[in-house]
Amino acid sequence: MGFILVDTQVHQSQRMVVFGAIFLLTTLLILYSSNSGNQLYNTVGAGNYHYASKNTNLKTWSTRDAYVPVYGNKTFLLHCGHCALVTSSSHVLGSRVGREIDRSECVIRMNDAPTSGFERDVGNRTTLRVVAHSSVFRVVRRPAEFLNLSTDMSIVFWGPPTKIGKDAKGTLFRLIQRVSATYRNVSFYTITPSKMKKFDSLFQRETGRDREKSRSWLSTGWFTMVIAIELCDNVKVYGMVPPNYCGRRQPKRMPYHYYKPRGADECAMYLQNERGRRGNHHRFITEKQVFSRWAKLYNITFSNPTW
Ligand SMILES: *[C@@H]1O[C@H](CO)[C@@H](O)[C@H](O)[C@H]1NC(C)=O
Ligand SMILES: *[C@@H]1O[C@H](CO)[C@@H](O)[C@H](O)[C@H]1NC(C)=O
Ligand SMILES: *[C@@H]1O[C@H](CO)[C@@H](O)[C@H](O)[C@H]1NC(C)=O
Ligand SMILES: *[C@@H]1O[C@H](CO)[C@@H](O)[C@H](O)[C@H]1NC(C)=O
Ligand SMILES: *[C@@H]1O[C@H](CO)[C@@H](O)[C@H](O)[C@H]1NC(C)=O
Repeated sequence: MGFILVDTQVHQSQRMVVFGAIFLLTTLLILYSSNSGNQLYNTVGAGNYHYASKNTNLKTWSTRDAYVPVYGNKTFLLHCGHCALVTSSSHVLGSRVGREIDRSECVIRMNDAPTSGFERDVGNRTTLRVVAHSSVFRVVRRPAEFLNLSTDMSIVFWGPPTKIGKDAKGTLFRLIQRVSATYRNVSFYTITPSKMKKFDSLFQRETGRDREKSRSWLSTGWFTMVIAIELCDNVKVYGMVPPNYCGRRQPKRMPYHYYKPRGADECAMYLQNERGRRGNHHRFITEKQVFSRWAKLYNITFSNPTW
């Protein structure tokens, strides 16, 4: 950034030298970051091999008190036969699988991924929505789409206990409480602090990395996939790319979210997060490596793309 502060008096030739230097540095930086990305990939690959033998059985680690109702006397639905897990990726666009999704016994969605306007590709039923603490506002802002429904639906909120835990008493939890008391056809649950810890230790067991020390954030996809495995005999995932997808040469530009056509590019988002060192990041690619292993253990299939 310091290079930008070039004195306006410098000669044209000096300017060219500076631009040349910036170009060289940028190239080096790109090379460096793609290298470190590969290193990370390899480490993770090795981790997979090592940790594959100590798998947790997700079918049995589920406990009744993991998801607590925010309002009223409700019990989290504990079983579905065939589930459709609809991701928020733009890979679902043009798929025309809406009807197939709606025929599933349970339909699981994430955050504020809408159905109106996208029914042909993502269907119109929702049984369960898994929502991140950071998406709560986006969900409550559109009650007609997400809350004021004539059918039963459950929402599970995940987040740090300090934000959405029952003892948090913060703005976010109070908002969730108010909304839960208003929209009675929706059952609202939060993930208990002890279950949140279990999600962290699961990440560590599956990747060999401590979530906090490796400055990783779990994604809503991680929570949703685990909950789907707990609930469903079979899961069909729509719109999720395989873990190696973004490592291929120049995949076509695809928006990260199907409902934000001008939003971030999916692979750019995945790669940038996977390689991120400063600050906390999602590890979308690492998570997908774990999902691909789980697919062999549980009944999980992937559609659009198929893998
Ligand atoms: C809660 O609901 C269950 C059945 O759904 C019922 O057996 C139980 O008595 C209820 N508890 C209270 C405190 O209302
Ligand atoms: C959902 O879509 C089906 C057609 O695919 C339609 O028959 C049904 O009425 C729709 N339901 C709602 C709640 O919009
Ligand atoms: C829910 O929707 C109905 C119409 O579908 C409307 O009359 C009602 O006021 C809405 N309630 C809330 C709390 O938004
Ligand atoms: C809840 O669903 C029932 C049908 O199951 C419907 O009659 C009722 O109006 C809904 N309530 C709200 C608040 O939307
Ligand atoms: C896979 O699905 C079948 C039937 O759909 C079910 O009987 C079986 O228990 C499932 N296996 C696992 C590991 O969930």
